Amino acid sequence: MKIACIGAGPAGLYFAISMKLRDPAHEVEIFERNPPGVTFGWGVVFSDLTVDNIGRNDPVSAKTITGEFAHWDDIDVHIRGECITSGGHGFIGIGRKRLLEILQDRARELGVALHFEAECDPADPKWRDYDLVIASDGANSRFRDASPEAFGVDVDVRRNKFVWLGTSKVFDAFTFAFEETEHGWIWAHAYRFAPDCSTFIVECSEETWARFGFDRMSQDESIAACEKLFAKYLDGHSLQSNATHLIGSAAWLNFRRIKCERWASGNVILLGDAAHTAHFSIGSGTKLALEDAIKLAEVLNRDGLSLQAALDEYQAERNLEVLKLQNSARNSTEWFETLERYLHFEPLQFAYSLLTRSQRISHENLRLRDREWLEGVERWFWKRATDGRSNTTAPPMFAPLRLREMEVENRITVSPMAMYSALDGVPNDFHFVHLGERALGGAGLVFTEMTCVSPEGRISPGCTGMWNADHVAAWKRIVDFVHANSKAKICLQLGHSGPKGSTKLGWEGNDVPLDEGNWPVMAASDVPWSPANQVPRPMTRADMDAVRDEFVAAVTMGLEAGFDMIELHAAHGYLLSSFITPLQNRRTDDYGGSLENRLRYPLEVFAAMRAAWPKDRPMSVRISATDWAGDDGVTPEDAVAIGEAFARDGADLIDVSAGQTWAEQQPVYGRMFQTPFSDKIRNEGRVATMAVGNIYEPDHANSILAAGRADLVALARPHLVDPFWTLRAAAQLDYRDIHIPPQYLNGMSQLARNLKREAEMAAALRV
Ligand SMILES: Cc1cc2nc3c(=O)[nH]c(=O)nc-3n(C[C@H](O)[C@H](O)[C@H](O)COP(=O)(O)OP(=O)(O)OC[C@H]3O[C@@H](n4cnc5c(N)ncnc54)[C@H](O)[C@@H]3O)c2cc1C
Ligand SMILES: Cc1cc2nc3c(=O)[nH]c(=O)nc-3n(C[C@H](O)[C@H](O)[C@H](O)COP(=O)(O)O)c2cc1C
Repeated sequence: MKIACIGAGPAGLYFAISMKLRDPAHEVEIFERNPPGVTFGWGVVFSDLTVDNIGRNDPVSAKTITGEFAHWDDIDVHIRGECITSGGHGFIGIGRKRLLEILQDRARELGVALHFEAECDPADPKWRDYDLVIASDGANSRFRDASPEAFGVDVDVRRNKFVWLGTSKVFDAFTFAFEETEHGWIWAHAYRFAPDCSTFIVECSEETWARFGFDRMSQDESIAACEKLFAKYLDGHSLQSNATHLIGSAAWLNFRRIKCERWASGNVILLGDAAHTAHFSIGSGTKLALEDAIKLAEVLNRDGLSLQAALDEYQAERNLEVLKLQNSARNSTEWFETLERYLHFEPLQFAYSLLTRSQRISHENLRLRDREWLEGVERWFWKRATDGRSNTTAPPMFAPLRLREMEVENRITVSPMAMYSALDGVPNDFHFVHLGERALGGAGLVFTEMTCVSPEGRISPGCTGMWNADHVAAWKRIVDFVHANSKAKICLQLGHSGPKGSTKLGWEGNDVPLDEGNWPVMAASDVPWSPANQVPRPMTRADMDAVRDEFVAAVTMGLEAGFDMIELHAAHGYLLSSFITPLQNRRTDDYGGSLENRLRYPLEVFAAMRAAWPKDRPMSVRISATDWAGDDGVTPEDAVAIGEAFARDGADLIDVSAGQTWAEQQPVYGRMFQTPFSDKIRNEGRVATMAVGNIYEPDHANSILAAGRADLVALARPHLVDPFWTLRAAAQLDYRDIHIPPQYLNGMSQLARNLKREAEMAAALRV
C-alpha cells in the first residue's frame, strides 16, 4: 500500500513503524509541518499496560523507550502550606521530544520516508495518489476539519485555561501545587520525565486567568508571572515554553475534548488526537495514539480482511477504549473545573478527593498503593465522625453519623422501596419481615417505602399509608422490632403520589392507570404524567391546606409509632415534585414560575411537618437533582438552591435522587451515576447529603464517603437480593465492631474466616 501520514507525532510515527514491521513492502511517507526536534510539550506519562503493548508490537523501539524512562512513585499535593504525600502510584514517563526522536530513528531504519517542514493542505490533489491518508495531525487536525460532517466531529471546549511548560527543577514526586492568590486559585501539575527536566503545566479558571491579565501578557510575561507564583516549588529554576517556535500553537489553551462518530472517510483515516482527545490530567493521550496505531496496522495487514471490515473493526474496538478513558477524563476535567467546591476540605481529604477524581482509583486501590497513607485518611475520617473519640483505621462506611440527637451506627442506608403489598395502606407481615430482616442485615438506617398521607395520595392500591390508627399500630410493631433486635434506626418516608397516583402495582405496569376503580388525582397543574394517565386537577389553596395538614397528621402518627426520623418525598414527579419541576408546573400564581415560587408549597409543607416533629429528631428531604431535560427542567444548579432552601427550613439531610419527573427523561446511567449531584449539593450548598443510585460495592461507598461526596450512602436494589449487604461487607473488610444479631454470630464468623482464607489463597496464587 502507498500511505501518507500527516504529522510526525506519536500516532503517525508509530503507525508508520507498525505498518513497515508487518510488511516492508508498504510505501509509507510522513509529512510534518515542523522541523525535526521541534515539538510542543515536555514529558508524557505511560502505564504498565501501554509498555506491554509497545513491547509486543516492536521490541526494538520499546527497549530504547523503556531504557530511558523516568520512574516515580509518590504523589505530593501541596495546599494551604501543607504537603500531603501518598505513595505506590508507579508512574513512568519520558520526554516527548526524546520519544519522537526514538520513533523517528526507528521509522527511518525501517524505510519510512520522513518529510519535515512540510505543511499539508487537505485540498491538495496529490493525496488522491495515496491508497490511504492517515490523518495523524493532532487535536487541531486540518484533515478532519476539512470534512467535519463526514467524520461527525464533536468538540467540547472546556472551561479552564492551561499552559504546558517545562523546567530544569527535578520533581521527585508527581506534584500538584495549589496556590491561593488575590485573583483566585491557580495550580500546577508537575512531574519529572528526564534526569534533568520536568513538565510543569499551569492551570486555572478562565476568570482567574483574566483577572491575572494573562490574556494581555506576552508569552514571556506569562512565564515570568508563573515563575513568581510557583517560586517556592521551583527553587530558583526557571520555567520555559517550547511553543514559541511552533506553527499553530499558542501558549495558554483551553482543552478541547474531541469525539468523532466516524473515523474514516474516503481514503482518509483519523488516528490519535485527530480522532479523540483525553484531558491531560489523566495523561493518556499518547497511550491512546500508540494503541490506535497498533490496532490500525494490525487490521490493515490481516489476511482476508476487506478494507471496510478492517476499518470497522479498528473503530469499534478502539472507540470502546476511548469512550472508557474519555469518561474518566471527563470526571477528572470536571474536578479541576469545579475545584472551588473542594477548597474548604482539610488538606488530607482534599488530596483523597483529587486522587479519586476520575473514579478509576478507589478506596481499596489506594490501600494497595499505600496502606499507611490510606489508614491515615481512615483515622482522620473516624476522628471527625466521632468528635475525636475514635482513633480507628476502619473503612469510612462503618463510621457513625450524628443527625441532631440521632446517631446512626454506620453510613449504609436501605433506600426507600415501594413493595406494593399493603391492603388499605396497612403494612402487614410482609413489611414486618422485609424491613425487620434488612435491619438485622446491619445497615445503619432503614427507610420505609413511600408511605402515603391519604388514600388518594397512594401510587397504587398496594401502597402503605399513615392516615389512621391501624397504620400507627402496624408500623409500631415493625419499629419496635427494629429497635429491639438491631442497632438500625428507622425513617418513615412520607409522600403523596399527585399526578402519578391511581396506578397499578409496580410489577403489573409502572405508572399504568388501574383497569377499574381509579380515583381522581391532583397536581400542581393539569399536566398528565403521560397520555395514558389521568389529567390531574390543579390544586386549589383549599387542597393545598388539606394536603399540608395530612402530612402534619402523618408526622404526628409517625412519632406515635416510634420512628427515629422522617423523610419528605419531594422527588420523582409525585405531588410535591410536580410543583418543583417546571416541566409539570404551569401555574401562574405564587406557586409557579420562578424556582422560588415553585418551591413555596413544598417548603410550606416541610415547615409544617418540621414544627410537628421533635426538635431532637432529624428530617430529610428526597429531591430529584435533575429532570434529565437540560435547561428545560430542574438543573443540578437548581438542585443546590433546592437543597439549601430545605436546609434553611430545618432539613438535616438531602437525599439526592434524580429524574423520574418527566416521562421523556434522558438519564445517563452508570456506576454511581447520581453521586455527582450529591457531591455538588453537599459541597456547593454545604448541606449534608445521602447519595443513591447504582452504588453496589463496599468500595464505592468508602470512596464516596472518604472523598466527601456524601455523608450517607443508600442502596436500594442491592438490598432486595441481599438484606445482609452491610454485614457481608463487614466480613469482607474484616471489620469486627459492627452489631451482629447474637443469633447470627456463628454465621458471620464463619463467613469472615472463609473470605479471609479465599483472599489468602488468591494472594498466594498471584505470587
Ligand atoms: C498539556 C498537555 C499534557 C499532556 N500530557 C500527556 C501525558 O502526560 N501523557 C500522554 O500520554 N499524553 C499527554 N498529552 C496528550 C498528548 O500530547 C497527545 O495525546 C498526543 O501527542 C497525541 O499524539 P498524536 O500523534 O495524535 O498528535 P500530536 O502529538 O499532536 O501530533 C500531531 C503532529 O501533526 C503535525 N501537524 C498537524 N497539522 C499538520 C499539517 N497540516 N501538516 C503537517 N503536519 C501537521 C503537528 O505539528 C504534530 O507534530 C498531553 C497533552 C497536553 C496538551
Ligand atoms: C422496587 C423499588 C421501589 C422503589 N420505591 C421507592 C420509594 O418508595 N420511594 C423512593 O423515594 N424511591 C423508591 N425507589 C428508588 C430507590 O430508593 C433508589 O433511589 C433507586 O432504586 C436507585 O438506587 P439503586 O440503584 O441502589 O437501586 C424504588 C426503587 C425500587 C427498585
